[in-house]
Amino acid sequence: MYIFALKNAKQLSRQICKKTKLRLGLFKAKRFSDGEIYLQIKNEVKGQKVFILGSTCQDKNILEFLILINALKENGAKKITAIFPYFSYSRQDKKDRLGAPITAKLMANLFKQAGVNQFITVDIHSQRDKDYLKPKLINLDPLPIFANYIKKNISLKNTIIVAPDNGARNRAFKLAKLLDPLPVLVMQKIRPQQNMAKILKFKKNIIGKNVIITDDMIDTAGTICAACHELKEHKVKDIYIFTTHGILSGPAIERIKKAPIKQVVLTDTYPIPKEKRIKKIKILPIAPLLIKEL
Ligand code: R5P
Repeated sequence: MYIFALKNAKQLSRQICKKTKLRLGLFKAKRFSDGEIYLQIKNEVKGQKVFILGSTCQDKNILEFLILINALKENGAKKITAIFPYFSYSRQDKKDRLGAPITAKLMANLFKQAGVNQFITVDIHSQRDKDYLKPKLINLDPLPIFANYIKKNISLKNTIIVAPDNGARNRAFKLAKLLDPLPVLVMQKIRPQQNMAKILKFKKNIIGKNVIITDDMIDTAGTICAACHELKEHKVKDIYIFTTHGILSGPAIERIKKAPIKQVVLTDTYPIPKEKRIKKIKILPIAPLLIKEL
């Protein structure tokens, strides 16, 4: 069986091939003079089950992913499984205001239409996203990886788990359960405008506690930094962040540098360039979780 990987997932696909029976599929992709993508697979896939792995982190990758699926389908692949370590547009999962689209649903439909029979995702943003990718979705849970890391590296004494908003509530309780269980605090967030996060004030005595904030992703780091500042007002001790996807766009790295955070722990579901791999950030590999499923 073959696994085809976009350029941005080559390293991950090699790790997978080393530990499974999958072989790396070959294809060439180039651009015509007018910018259109031309793609050609180099393996015989007729009647075969194939996997495709890639980050859809930029729109041009989405198109290449779709064209690759189509090439596999048109050349007779029997079952196509798309692996999205991070499912982009997942936060645009509802009509949040009049005139808005539902881009997550559109994305799911595009991939199904192109020929995907099954999806594998990691810590997908919402139940709505899961519904769009049904009926064949396997959504992998990275929390046991985080729990293991926490047990080995962070004292559980006097420690609480914090969800920075309601969306992270279930994740926080799940992580807490894997850790003895630990107590959970759920904060409330509002977004006065897009890409701006405001954490609401709360009353609870958490003086001197160590805090583990958990969320599905850090994008501009507005959410986690606002949460940290509010927690510091409550005189907490050390703050750790555990989030699956490190998008780290715009001001994220500068914000993380300045924020009262001891460590940010992410996985490599999203490509993180060298210059963003600062000392405070620890990246755990997602390959072991994917390998179990392949
Ligand atoms: C929101 O629903 C997500 O779960 C994250 O809290 C959010 O997307 C993080 O974005 P940012 O880092 O820009 O605040």
